[in-house]
Amino acid sequence: MDLKIPTREEALALLHQFNEGDSLRKHAYAVEGVMRFIARKRGEDEEKWGIVGLIHDLDYEKFPDQHCRKTREILAEKNWPEEYIRAAVSHGWGICSDEEPQTNLEKALYAIDELTGLVVTTALVRPSKSVLDVTTKSVKNKWKDKRFAAGVDRAVIEKGAERLGVSLEELIADTIKGMQEVAEAIGLKGVAG
Ligand SMILES: [Fe+2]
Ligand SMILES: [Fe+2]
Repeated sequence: MDLKIPTREEALALLHQFNEGDSLRKHAYAVEGVMRFIARKRGEDEEKWGIVGLIHDLDYEKFPDQHCRKTREILAEKNWPEEYIRAAVSHGWGICSDEEPQTNLEKALYAIDELTGLVVTTALVRPSKSVLDVTTKSVKNKWKDKRFAAGVDRAVIEKGAERLGVSLEELIADTIKGMQEVAEAIGLKGVAG
């Protein structure tokens, strides 16, 4: 069995094949953007980190009850390297996966996955509806308001930042910056004014 390093094009084609809905695709692009940003900042493999971000929720649309498990199956069938599979699956640690985030790639994905949702909601309540206007402070202000983006588990993000060894402020700032780089693709470039 030949293991092959997947390209971004292959990852994108897979994403489109398994995720037909707009919101999961946009979530994938957001997570990819943030993973790329953090990888670049740390001098890591930006392409690899981005690809893992892109496909981390691959199975969620078609197999929500088998989230993470099915992604492992699909990627293994495509002969993806274990490093990529493990990294994708470990984002569901404690929820749908026993695989604990261990590498920096895995820890970063675990930390920022939910946070991207909080940044989206913060952008959408601004008059501009633009991620370009979101600040670390505006996200931080929503931290204790549990009704705001109620589905976003703040404790998971805090645990993720700690595991990655960064402050919550730095994690939020990097997540915003990564998402700003893909503002158009995630539909958060704002309303024309
Ligand atoms: Fe997930
Ligand atoms: Fe996700």
